[in-house]
Amino acid sequence: MGWIERIIEDRGGEVSFAEFMELALYDPDHGYYSGSEPRYGRRGDFLTAPTASLWYARVLAGFLTRLAGGTGPVTFVDLAAGDGSLLAGVSEALGERGADVLIRRVAVERSPAMRGRLARRLQGTADVVTDLWEAKQPSGPVVVHASELYDALPVERVIAGNDELNELWVAVVDGSLGWKQRPARENVAGYFSEHRVKLDPGQVAEACLSAQDVHGRHLQWAGDDALVLILDYGYEARRLYDARGRGQGSLACFHRHQLSRDPLESPGEQDITAHVNWDDIRMVAREGGWHEIGLWPLAEFLIRAGLAEVAEAFDLGMEAPMNARTIRERQEIKRLLDPEGMGSDLKMLIQGRGRLAALSSQLRCMQNSEENATKRGR
Ligand SMILES: C[S@@+](CC[C@H](N)C(=O)[O-])C[C@H]1O[C@@H](n2cnc3c(N)ncnc32)[C@H](O)[C@@H]1O
Repeated sequence: MGWIERIIEDRGGEVSFAEFMELALYDPDHGYYSGSEPRYGRRGDFLTAPTASLWYARVLAGFLTRLAGGTGPVTFVDLAAGDGSLLAGVSEALGERGADVLIRRVAVERSPAMRGRLARRLQGTADVVTDLWEAKQPSGPVVVHASELYDALPVERVIAGNDELNELWVAVVDGSLGWKQRPARENVAGYFSEHRVKLDPGQVAEACLSAQDVHGRHLQWAGDDALVLILDYGYEARRLYDARGRGQGSLACFHRHQLSRDPLESPGEQDITAHVNWDDIRMVAREGGWHEIGLWPLAEFLIRAGLAEVAEAFDLGMEAPMNARTIRERQEIKRLLDPEGMGSDLKMLIQGRGRLAALSSQLRCMQNSEENATKRGR
């Protein structure tokens, strides 16, 4: 019997899917995210935007510079900071301007091994904490960023019958993992009613019951002069639970860049994710008086946030010569813009309050280098 089967046996032989996912990803000894090496990145099982290309951090650094120009230096928080690629990349891109742009950097990471790695990589330039509320609340403007945090939160899994909703639990049968159906608990059924979702018979779906609480705590910490940038895979409830698009749910597992739909295979050895229901994130923000600045595919966000200007600053503008460096850098940018991949599948949701919300509304005006060149009279 494997490690997870033994734990499930100890808990009575069956656990809800969220409990199983919590163990498979975060068990301190065997969980996928508990190992000493990061599981994502170029040599890992899958790429995230910050690990795919330095250009993600470069564009964010440019965007932060513009915001700080309006408010003074901001506190910058990276939630689920992982291996520190984003914070290290932002610091590198800011260079000597760093102190004018960022007054404080905070890395929030649940995995102790990754916190150790963050502390070593960031060398005292950032507070490294397990939970955002361990960090001192900011008295000035704050930008909170999260890449692929919310799709890594454990979810419950359900299957609809003709008139009833059942949960899919994970049970140990004859020493092996299998599925077991149980009538949906009130909070699980309530999640779908809250979102006015009626699943078709036979449809499988996931529900992240913690997303609203987790996001609410982050917003509360951030205060009233803040911007929150959430980069993740997700849909609004209407599309997420549309049987024609995702009749078998959105759960996906990754190992060595291979996609699998079987979360019970090799627990602890593969990533398990489920798409974010953007309406969860929006509901909490609306209740807290936050404004939505936009929800854009990653490629569109990068262009709105000033990719063209940053590329020009790196001598990669339209007139840049074709040489090994410019070709390499353009390939790095293309990774993030790929319309068949990250560029369209990952979405950036931005919510704001106070001065930072006002300053960020400029993102709503599409800018491109041609318009800017015209503005500069070229
Ligand atoms: C898919 S990785 C993303 C890492 C990084 N943000 C990136 O995009 O490269 C997910 C990370 O979230 C961390 N994590 C999961 N739940 C968390 C939580 N509640 N608070 C902080 N970190 C969390 C995991 O330990 C893991 O390092």
